[in-house]
Amino acid sequence: MNVNLSSESIISTKADCLALAVPEKGTWPDSTLKADELLGGLIGELNKAGDVSGKLASTLMVPVSGQPWSRVLIVGTGADSDRSPSNYFKVLAAVVKELREAPSKHAVLALADTTTNNADASEAQNLSRIGRSIEEHTYRFTGFKSEAPPERKLTDITVAASDSSGALQNALDLGLATGRGMNLTRDLGNTPPNVCHPTWLGEQAQKLSKDHDVIKTEILDEEQMAKLGMGSLLSVSAGSAQPARLIVMEYRGGKADDKPHVLVGKGITFDSGGISIKPGEGMDEMKYDMGGAASVFGAMQAIAEIKPALNVVAVIAAAENMPSGTATRPGDIVTSMSGQTIEILNTDAEGRLVLCDALTYVKKFDPATVVDLATLTGAVIMALGRQATGLFSNDDALAEQLTSAGESSCDRVWRLPIWDEYQSQLDSNFADMQNIGGRPAGSITAACFLSRFTKDYRWAHLDIAGTAWHTGAAKGSSGRPVPLLVDYVLSHVGK
Ligand code: BES
Ligand code: MN
Ligand code: ZN
Repeated sequence: MNVNLSSESIISTKADCLALAVPEKGTWPDSTLKADELLGGLIGELNKAGDVSGKLASTLMVPVSGQPWSRVLIVGTGADSDRSPSNYFKVLAAVVKELREAPSKHAVLALADTTTNNADASEAQNLSRIGRSIEEHTYRFTGFKSEAPPERKLTDITVAASDSSGALQNALDLGLATGRGMNLTRDLGNTPPNVCHPTWLGEQAQKLSKDHDVIKTEILDEEQMAKLGMGSLLSVSAGSAQPARLIVMEYRGGKADDKPHVLVGKGITFDSGGISIKPGEGMDEMKYDMGGAASVFGAMQAIAEIKPALNVVAVIAAAENMPSGTATRPGDIVTSMSGQTIEILNTDAEGRLVLCDALTYVKKFDPATVVDLATLTGAVIMALGRQATGLFSNDDALAEQLTSAGESSCDRVWRLPIWDEYQSQLDSNFADMQNIGGRPAGSITAACFLSRFTKDYRWAHLDIAGTAWHTGAAKGSSGRPVPLLVDYVLSHVGK
């Protein structure tokens, strides 16, 4: 999509469609008033007649003549009490979904006007949200269909703004980069597991650094990981024909001695459960078990485009969890890179086994903060549903930062405890710990397991098992939590 910012009056901007907002009650945005005047009061009449209700995210497409635009798309922004960021995203989603099916090639969006949204949002924030929504809602994943679906007409979007200053352009670009990052995450997640295996993920990292000079990639193979003592990570790939990879991507936009913010992603390209094999129903969705890794890729791509002045290191623990004659058995004891021994009682609790070695490895970067992302437990879906990501942290300030990044990006997290009282559920009769903690508080004991490897730095764990993908008819990667990560990383700039 070609997206540009324009401070020209919408009245004189030629386009196939002009998108405008109408609230359910109260004052209309300036741009809507102007267009209504040009149209001889048409929008007001439609409003009186009830065709335009102003109800949140309702839309009406009206062909018009004698204007620079051949149709207007009127979207409702709801009552005053509806003007929250998440409702603004609903308005934008409705507009983009309508436009992508419409016969228009070129659309103008007059939706960044602050009177369109809640008073809390600046025009810049609105523009970022518009940019992200354009990318997010025009996404398609069609590479595996034998026949390409028909091309969409919409190719150009002009976003109206009060001026085309650098600051507003940057805000729009930030949103577009975030949306494109989400779409990279979705592409990686949706790619079938016979294609998306650890080596392929490594190739995607190399591609990212080829496309963006600011990213350097290093990939460790199993031999190198064995030398480092990553017995826990390697126990997960032991049953697979696909070798594991540890993928490191570095973005250095800050000073050489600025401590980096580290992102660690769980990259299980398929989780069969291993010898503790999963039931068959819905097992295909375990291709999304690399959702943490995919979100790290998406965030890194967005960061490479935005080029903030700080350092970010990404580490992805990529492996496939399969049953076979060489697979790890329940009862096996392995030694992690930290030296701590682990009794594997269930080979399906493999995420923590790959993450613990990656979390030990990242100490070498002397990190300012470490955030890991993982589709770690089914239990977090029981606790928080598919609305919120589970947050765990050994640092209140870091937890607070992630929480507010989640609020402003509408990609929310909710904190759960990792109190010492839960740690005893991981006691093993034979090793330093076991890899499962029983049914109660399954997400918390998984986080407690990780906390044993993260004592030396400020750390947070995000359990995205409920938020990384949609199930059912709309099955597909969600692109979450890329918006959260971008917001979070940028919140460190200048600190
Ligand atoms: N990848 C799964 C977690 C998962 C399950 C995410 C369903 C999304 C939907 C993880 O590796 C796993 O299998 N976890 C087990 C842990 C258990 C064996 C302690 C789980 O959640 O059942
Ligand atoms: Mn598993
Ligand atoms: Zn898993």
